[in-house]
Amino acid sequence: MNKKKEDLQKNTIDNTKKAHMTTNQGLKVSNDEFSLKAGERGPTLMEDFHFREKMTHFDHERIPERVVHARGFGVHGEFELYESLEKYTKAGLFTDTSRRTPVFVRFSTVAGNRGSMDIPRDVRGFATKFYTEEGNFDLVGNNMPVFFMQDAIKFPDMVHAVKPEPHNEMPQAASAHDTFWDWVSQNTESAHMVMWLMSDRAIPRSLRMMEGFGVHTFRLVNAEGKSHFVKFHWKPKLGTHQVVWDEAQLINGKNMDFHRQDLWENINKGNAVEFELGMQLIPEEDEFNMDFDILDPTKIWPEEDVPVQIVGKMTLNQNVDDYFAETEQVAFHPGHVVPGIDFSNDPLLQGRLFSYTDTQLIRLGGPNFHQIPINRPICPFANNQREGYNQMNVTKGQTSYHKNYLNNNQPEPASPEEGGYEHYDEKVEGRKIRARSESFKDHFSQAKMFLNSMTAHEKQHIFDAFSFELGKCKDLGVRQNAVNNLLNPIDREMTEYVVDKIGVELPDTIEESNYEKSSPALSMANTPS
Ligand code: HEM
Repeated sequence: MNKKKEDLQKNTIDNTKKAHMTTNQGLKVSNDEFSLKAGERGPTLMEDFHFREKMTHFDHERIPERVVHARGFGVHGEFELYESLEKYTKAGLFTDTSRRTPVFVRFSTVAGNRGSMDIPRDVRGFATKFYTEEGNFDLVGNNMPVFFMQDAIKFPDMVHAVKPEPHNEMPQAASAHDTFWDWVSQNTESAHMVMWLMSDRAIPRSLRMMEGFGVHTFRLVNAEGKSHFVKFHWKPKLGTHQVVWDEAQLINGKNMDFHRQDLWENINKGNAVEFELGMQLIPEEDEFNMDFDILDPTKIWPEEDVPVQIVGKMTLNQNVDDYFAETEQVAFHPGHVVPGIDFSNDPLLQGRLFSYTDTQLIRLGGPNFHQIPINRPICPFANNQREGYNQMNVTKGQTSYHKNYLNNNQPEPASPEEGGYEHYDEKVEGRKIRARSESFKDHFSQAKMFLNSMTAHEKQHIFDAFSFELGKCKDLGVRQNAVNNLLNPIDREMTEYVVDKIGVELPDTIEESNYEKSSPALSMANTPS
């Protein structure tokens, strides 16, 4: 049993053992079938505390589902490191090869609600919480290496467009409707991500057989303070496998729990569910050596230029005991980092750093959700934060402020040598502006590169996916915009194929990206020479 599983035992109530039923106050219950009544056929009495407690608790069982990634499935496991990466980072989980770091992974779909099916055409979430000895590190990734937008301020718009339409809550399918195609065709930075979404990667065969990506550029910092930019990758040991669209539709119709059941059963059977962790690394001084901006989350770093180094392995090997307590209440956050791991200025990542705690404050009922067993770190923690809804800790001592004489300044901040987190000492200056760097302007090169890297049958699947999904749009103007603004700038053969299937005009020429129309072009501000 790994350290996190052991830690969860502290809060476990074992209902599989013989025990008397009690109320929440510990009082033994004598009957759980009949409410207390005045006479055999009379009204139920208010004084029936057992009935009142049972019903009240039931009435309050539901919490809000996640605003995105509502449908998920969580598993425990552990991470082992192959070789020390101390050249790049001082993070203990990436330098100490003797450690087995406990992890909890939640796989998810993005758009569907908690009760939706497992194989829609959609992005999959791949979120990993590493319970390290220096605190929790969360790698909150997806199964596609890029994203729909370059700036977090657009996220609510994209999600509103991809969720069921507000007036009639239809359609449930993520990508098959007017609002989704309306948004992506007006925001051409999504072109690369849309190609991934129309590819087979959006319909994985199994959660055990898909890749994971941190998407953003993060930073690793070593003990000497030297920094490398890093992109994280998960590579499934079983390889990457997909179903085809007709299979996906059949499976969803017959068994909407197909993915979670596959994972649950394989783990119960003891089958290895393994993912290797890979890193692409670029030294700080090479930040501007690519022909795109490495802060742009719609771009991959081509693996021929920056190879993926395999650094360790995650083995998922234990199912949860309680779906709600663990999978539903787990709270991931891309801002949960440990010394040796830091952020880049990717504007999408920067916005995410705000969003997760903010949403969890309401989803998990106030500021103490870090104390929920699945979320609490396995290392000691102490600070002067107090009270709030659902406070579970009893903290001793007269003082609850820093600095203090009465308690000898305890708890006190740690120096870097003692493990205190220090942000990377990056030089930042510039004008206060709402804009996007010129270096984020290219929306189509990597979308084209993606299509060109496909085999003939994979290409055909993409063409058919565009035809199917766009063919579901009721508004012909939306179809035409998608063709003009997205498909045509990416590939003429694909455009010709799709227009023929969905009944819109073939554009005469390749239109420019509508980027210029919507965003002031700037030169790369703050670029050090
Ligand atoms: C979940 C916001 C982009 C991966 C969530 C949640 C929010 C959110 C509010 C729900 C969290 C919860 O209730 O616990 C955002 C914003 C984004 C963004 C504002 C962009 C500005 C991304 C990207 C990725 C990603 C680029 C992948 C790299 C995930 C995953 C989950 C999630 C995997 C589910 C976590 C879980 O299983 O509990 N996101 N997100 N998100 N997001 Fe994002």
